Amino acid sequence: MADAPRKVTQIISPQYVIEGAGVLLRRSFGPSRANLFDPFLLFDHFAFNDPIEGPIVGFPTHPHRGIETVTYMLEGNTRHRDSLGNSGVIGPGSAQWMTSGRGILHEEMPKRGPEGTVFGFQLWVNLPVALKMSAPRYQDIHADDIPELEKDGQKVRLVAGEYAGLIGSATEIAIQPLYMDVTLDPNVEFSLPIAPGNAVYAYLFEGEAILGLDTDGRGEMVKAVSMVVFGDGDYIRIQAGTSSPARFILMAGTPINEAIVPYGPFVMNTEQEIEQAFIDLRNGTFVQD
Ligand code: FE2
Repeated sequence: MADAPRKVTQIISPQYVIEGAGVLLRRSFGPSRANLFDPFLLFDHFAFNDPIEGPIVGFPTHPHRGIETVTYMLEGNTRHRDSLGNSGVIGPGSAQWMTSGRGILHEEMPKRGPEGTVFGFQLWVNLPVALKMSAPRYQDIHADDIPELEKDGQKVRLVAGEYAGLIGSATEIAIQPLYMDVTLDPNVEFSLPIAPGNAVYAYLFEGEAILGLDTDGRGEMVKAVSMVVFGDGDYIRIQAGTSSPARFILMAGTPINEAIVPYGPFVMNTEQEIEQAFIDLRNGTFVQD
């Protein structure tokens, strides 16, 4: 049987939401019991370009349990500090893959770059039951350590997964994710096999592109800024629009297929486990060395 192209099944316009101590974000989706984006839970885009937005207040100390957060910065920095004694700065072009496991308390404070801008993304990835209460872990990925490939009008930065013989920097993640930053020159086409059964999303944040092209070359014309959901199949095809480059974050992963109960910064499998998270916070047993 011939390979089947993955078609676009949904185009989401991100909604503005306020999080942390008053940070304006564009949210494509957030955690819900319906778990429609399994294995992913949330995708936020923070972009502050306008001085009228005032000082950036960030995300003061808050807990996480049962998830992984992936922060990828393009402009500006995010300074982070946590209950395990880790601290650092995620600078332009850098990423951090944080596995909260059973619990961390951390703060995340975006800072403007020299041009006065902050531009980055945060993805939440679910953890399977067996890893919900695992030990917390950080993978800090410096910009210079992200494999990059530039050819034929395509530029790819590979944060996680495999592409063209390259292996992304984040490793040993349960859902075997693909997380890549792709820039295409005008009219340039990009195609990639993605095994059937995996969930695939493209967050188009610059330009416009035709996504989900089929064997006849037909697909959906989408303008930035949009989250594009692909249906099942064997591969994806994306072609940049005619007038300007297109840039998108491409994410894929194996669905976990387990019921979830999300509550704020916790994503567990039962209500009792959510209650336990609050009990642990109250008792001071949330974070264990
Ligand atoms: Fe956080």
